[in-house]
Amino acid sequence: MIPVEIKPDVYWVGAVDWDIRDFHGYSTYKGTTYNTYLILDDKITLVDTVKKEHKDQLVKNISLIIDPAKIDYLIVNHVELDHSGAMMQVVDLIRPEKIFCSPMGQKNMLAYNFPAGYPYATVKTGQSVSLGKKTVQFIETRMLHWPDSMFSYLPDDRLLISSDAFGQHWATSERFDDQVDAAELMAHAAKYYANILLLYSPLVQKLLGDVQKMGLQIDMIAPDHGLIWRTRPQAILEAYDRWSRQVTAQKAIIVYDTMWHSTEKMAVAIAEGLVQENISTKIFNLHHNHRSEVMTELLDAKAVICGSSTLNNNLLPRMADILTYMKGLKPLNRIGAAFGSYGWSGEAVGQINHYLEEMKFTIADPGIKVNYGPNADDLQACQALGQKIGRMIQEQVK
Ligand code: FEO
Repeated sequence: MIPVEIKPDVYWVGAVDWDIRDFHGYSTYKGTTYNTYLILDDKITLVDTVKKEHKDQLVKNISLIIDPAKIDYLIVNHVELDHSGAMMQVVDLIRPEKIFCSPMGQKNMLAYNFPAGYPYATVKTGQSVSLGKKTVQFIETRMLHWPDSMFSYLPDDRLLISSDAFGQHWATSERFDDQVDAAELMAHAAKYYANILLLYSPLVQKLLGDVQKMGLQIDMIAPDHGLIWRTRPQAILEAYDRWSRQVTAQKAIIVYDTMWHSTEKMAVAIAEGLVQENISTKIFNLHHNHRSEVMTELLDAKAVICGSSTLNNNLLPRMADILTYMKGLKPLNRIGAAFGSYGWSGEAVGQINHYLEEMKFTIADPGIKVNYGPNADDLQACQALGQKIGRMIQEQVK
């Protein structure tokens, strides 16, 4: 992709990764981008780099604007390797006078074995650097989503370069929010939040408050992945406020794995009960649905109902996977329930309940176990469970 001027003398010079389909466990079924920004001023500045494999794309894009050797400063907003994998080669090429990063950024770069002799210049929230006509202010955003993460803000351009925050994993030839379908863009942003940032929601709330207190004027948000918010920055700020408050809808998700379709029949009966109570319901068979799709739908679901048959005294492995993943992402204030079929031991329901308790969900019911295959009474009990959860959702979500 070619460079794009996003503000006067500020260029997108990053890389588009059309092929990536798994981003450390997140299904990037539409690829991603690694956004890098070049600021032309008395001190020419590059903000972040790209994944190692995409170094040539970055260097080519920079070279279409200036000789890379003319770059004076490198800003490292985030040390994760999708933004710093190419850094050593880029530093060899540009020989920057200074590398600006947070104190945790320097610590983490050294831990990643970047040379101790680099011209590190650590910066903290409130500090800024003049590039000539433009100024860059730094805002540390610890644990959003790594300890080293920070924002770079250009007040003259009202431009917030936001690292991973407000990003989306979506490879496109377009660079701006108004050039793509708005609903699809927000769906990718929601997936990103649900799978990367949900557990840090209290920090997101604090950051949004801090940004307001600092009185930052923002008319463009340029994240390190996906589209740049130039037309609707307020829409993504409002969405982050909603998602970080874990606002839920009258919606339930049923997530299950099944050996011989018995647990599947139970899932369908529970869904019927929920729908009878007018609850928006989605069913996820883990044979066919990736964990990150499940988490995306959980973002605004009030109830999470999990089913697994028992195999070798345990949950089915896919159910253990999703529950482990879900627990790590810390959804709060949900209603939970378990169900599943079994042959002779039947531990799965109890094990699911244990996860739900660990996540501090409100357990709607001790759970339904069915020996081998559900009969009509069993299916009626499942339907009744769906109705019961539906009524609980109605009471809790107005
Ligand atoms: Fe896009 Fe946390 O790296």
